[in-house]
Amino acid sequence: MTQFSVLVTRKLPSSVIDALRAVAHVDLYAGVAAIPPDELRARVAGVDALVCLLTDAIDRSVIDAAPSLKVIANVAVGYNNIDVVHARSRGIVVTNTPDVLTESVADFTWALLLAITRRLSEGERLVRRGEWKGWALDLMLGTELRGKQLGLVGLGRIGRAVAARAPAFGMRVAFTSRREIAGAGMGSGPDAEPMSLDRLLTTSDVVSLHVPLTPETRHLIDTRALARMKRSAYLINTARGPVVDEEALVWALQQHLIAGAALDVYEHEPAVHPGLLGLENVLLVPHLGSGTTETRTAMADLAVANVVAVLGGRPPVTPVPE
Ligand code: DGY
Repeated sequence: MTQFSVLVTRKLPSSVIDALRAVAHVDLYAGVAAIPPDELRARVAGVDALVCLLTDAIDRSVIDAAPSLKVIANVAVGYNNIDVVHARSRGIVVTNTPDVLTESVADFTWALLLAITRRLSEGERLVRRGEWKGWALDLMLGTELRGKQLGLVGLGRIGRAVAARAPAFGMRVAFTSRREIAGAGMGSGPDAEPMSLDRLLTTSDVVSLHVPLTPETRHLIDTRALARMKRSAYLINTARGPVVDEEALVWALQQHLIAGAALDVYEHEPAVHPGLLGLENVLLVPHLGSGTTETRTAMADLAVANVVAVLGGRPPVTPVPE
């Protein structure tokens, strides 16, 4: 297979690159930031496979610059950065990395949920500023989770894994998902009540987003949706930034229409809406949902396994769904 050539757009664990080098010539972009679009178009020209990240826009212009491209392997479960329709029209296989990050992202969602409801980052800022005056009965009181409702927008793999952790914190789970509500059923999933998005927003104490970014989910959480939430409710986003209208969220947080938000993802990453930066009732982290050594290595391994399979004439391991 050594006649094949693969472009890898960002540093991956060396064991993963070695596995790829065993079967193909590897062109590794070594920059610390995302490969610039012009350089991506130039370097993709002669390659058979592309291993890319969610920060790379694999649009029509990139795909058309790669006449011999056979497979695009995204090192992410989300693939909104790729023009899948155009790739398929060219006969190019597109793959992602589901399953291997599910538990890691679910853990992280709960980390955010606990941190925002118990005001961890606010408290840490207080201590670091040297402004903590000592224990007080009413200092930075958070909110209990026990007996409250966790509303999941989306009940795919990650949503289910988040739901599975809810009993440990005494939360009941509600969810909204077009497929489930259409009658596909919960299968062997967690105990959760299906409901409309509107009912979920008006009744949940914590709303957590677990939908892919599509034209239907872009700005799903807009001014109207935020205004429907309880004033005591929290919003968690570990999905994709543009699912939330950030301008509307700033307004809702400023007006205290909701109690707080914890965000791992942003509308224009890595830019963060300046209105969010000065607010105490929002927790901001830099897209770390799947960020453990084990999970990121497994994601890179799976992307490379997809490339090796396709270049070897076998079906991809994890093609993106039709
Ligand atoms: C994904 O895989 O889509 C995640 O956002 C990466 O953390």
